[in-house]
Amino acid sequence: MSLPKVSIIGAGNVGATAAHILLNHDLADIVMIDVVAGVAEGKALDMMHMRGNEGFHAKVSGSTDYALTENSDIVVVTAGVPRRPGMTREDLLNVNANIVKSVLDEALPRSPEAIYIFVTNPLDVMVNYAFSLAGVPKERLFGMGGVLDTARFVHAVCERLDCQPSEVDALVIGAHGEAMLPLPRLATVNGTTLTELMGAENIDAVVADTINGGAAIVELLQTGSAFYAPGSSIASMVAELLFPTGKTVSVSARLSGEYGLYDIHLGVPVRLGKGGVEEIIELDLSDQELASLAAAADSIKAQLSEL
Ligand code: APR
Repeated sequence: MSLPKVSIIGAGNVGATAAHILLNHDLADIVMIDVVAGVAEGKALDMMHMRGNEGFHAKVSGSTDYALTENSDIVVVTAGVPRRPGMTREDLLNVNANIVKSVLDEALPRSPEAIYIFVTNPLDVMVNYAFSLAGVPKERLFGMGGVLDTARFVHAVCERLDCQPSEVDALVIGAHGEAMLPLPRLATVNGTTLTELMGAENIDAVVADTINGGAAIVELLQTGSAFYAPGSSIASMVAELLFPTGKTVSVSARLSGEYGLYDIHLGVPVRLGKGGVEEIIELDLSDQELASLAAAADSIKAQLSEL
């Protein structure tokens, strides 16, 4: 049986973790590409050795050579330099923009029909930059940020209310970074809104835990940034693209008037499907929330103009 093909560019912590989780889901054959000789190939061989224990049918291979990525259904770009302690996502701007460009030069001609998911930080700037270079329809090029931020939001709610993730319905939209916009007003636990279940102080704490989640891990690890939850967020987006359930997910998608914004990728709720972003969902946001999105869009545009 032939499985869909997912190529992951950058076989570092995030890319290899996404590959590992996807393999265990047994949904797609995986190709990993890394600029460092032996890294993608070695990790792929190590993961193939798991087959005897896990029994999956999917295959994973790795190389420095993009020839392996030919005719991918999905290309996930995690290549980049991760954040170090004290470094903001914005510090990474120029280094990672050059990496994103070089990845597109290699991957696009080989998989012109693929769906492209960008993960490299600073996420929203990178995905907008990639879109400006790629000439790919907007439905097929977007960024992973909101799924991870939402996962952190759900975790923070579960910690405070001692509930299960399956009971929580929540979303984080906006930029993937300190300017993200968790939406406690629209979040529910078993159908009851968070604002009915928690006082303002607890809600502020949940929002702060969500926003600071990535930085907290950078401070603890000292030598890198988060990768388990980012890898899991990539895997869940890939699963939704290949086998859509119709659930709402937050991704950095191209806006054409939604939320009053034009010609910019920013984190918004969407429905994913086989064609990529199949629908952008317009929530009923307050003026303050809309202003926060507009400010994030302005900040992204200002950073883009520096590239
Ligand atoms: N082509 C392919 N791979 C590259 C390139 C390139 N031009 N440049 C760097 N890489 C590879 C590195 O060799 C490394 O293996 O990308 C990988 C990045 O992995 P890590 O350093 O482990 O970083 P990781 O934690 O995986 O983060 C990757 O995702 O969340 C974001 O901010 C994070 O931008 C960073 C990216």
